[in-house]
Amino acid sequence: MGLLSYLKSTILSKWVMAITGCILVLFICGHAVGNLQILLGSDTYNTYAAFLQGLGEILWIIRIGLFVCLVLHLITSIRLKLLNNSARPTAYQYKSFLKAKLTSRTMIWTGIMIFAFLTYHLLHFTAGVTNPVEYDQHEVVINGKSGIAQEIPNDPRILAQLPPTLQTTTVDGKLYAVQEEVKTAETRHDVYKMVVLGFRNPITSLVYIIGVILLGFHLSHAIQSMFQTAGFNHPKYTPWIIQGSNALAVIVVLCLISIPITILTGLVGGTI
Ligand code: HEM
Repeated sequence: MGLLSYLKSTILSKWVMAITGCILVLFICGHAVGNLQILLGSDTYNTYAAFLQGLGEILWIIRIGLFVCLVLHLITSIRLKLLNNSARPTAYQYKSFLKAKLTSRTMIWTGIMIFAFLTYHLLHFTAGVTNPVEYDQHEVVINGKSGIAQEIPNDPRILAQLPPTLQTTTVDGKLYAVQEEVKTAETRHDVYKMVVLGFRNPITSLVYIIGVILLGFHLSHAIQSMFQTAGFNHPKYTPWIIQGSNALAVIVVLCLISIPITILTGLVGGTI
């Protein structure tokens, strides 16, 4: 490969890394803020989850877009790493190796570990493959409100004793007692309960905490690299960019790990 085409493709690859990385950073910031709503209680969190599910085709377009970004980001990073290795005939000398920060040297490895974590995460919460019983949680929403319907067991002795004045409604073949006149009745995925039951398991929580901390290290360097690719490399601004990207990474990590921690300590979902 000629030097010119090598340079061209490396520059192009860096731009692919920067643009796809930027989209993934925006997603993770949105995902952290969205999921932080779990601290506001079951109704707020499930309404948010139902809103996302209700996006229908738009959700699929977003999912496909994110998937394309992720695959491009991963393939390009491996390609750049291989190009980098083949361009360097001898291994780094000890001194220059030390100069590069640990986070920048380990980007490819934190990236691969995050990819593995994400695969587990999607199987866990999106597909419900790893914990099908915890995943299969639903709640009844009456007139747009949750928590106002109580399931009546399908037991002839209990059914015979129900007071005639009791308001009831049937949703998905199950009978519920309700405290108000029913205008709309539906079931929705109880994402709150699913997440709470999931993080009650300390090993699951630990896997998430480690995954999110790795993501934090990856993010802090990734944002700095994005600015460098875009040409923002100035003695005046670079320290600000470094501090800003570190701060953003710490905020994202704190937001996300607060979820398993508050659940493990019973501050969130303690009544379930
Ligand atoms: C403690 C941290 C996290 C929590 C509580 C959390 C929670 C969730 C939940 C509940 C869903 C499923 C939403 C639904 O189907 O209704 C989900 C999906 C997803 N999460 Fe996370 N997440 C966390 C960390 C992460 C991290 C670190 C990443 C990226 C590396 C990530 C990427 C995704 C993606 C790509 C989806 C699929 C979105 C979709 O298909 O609609 N999450 N997350």
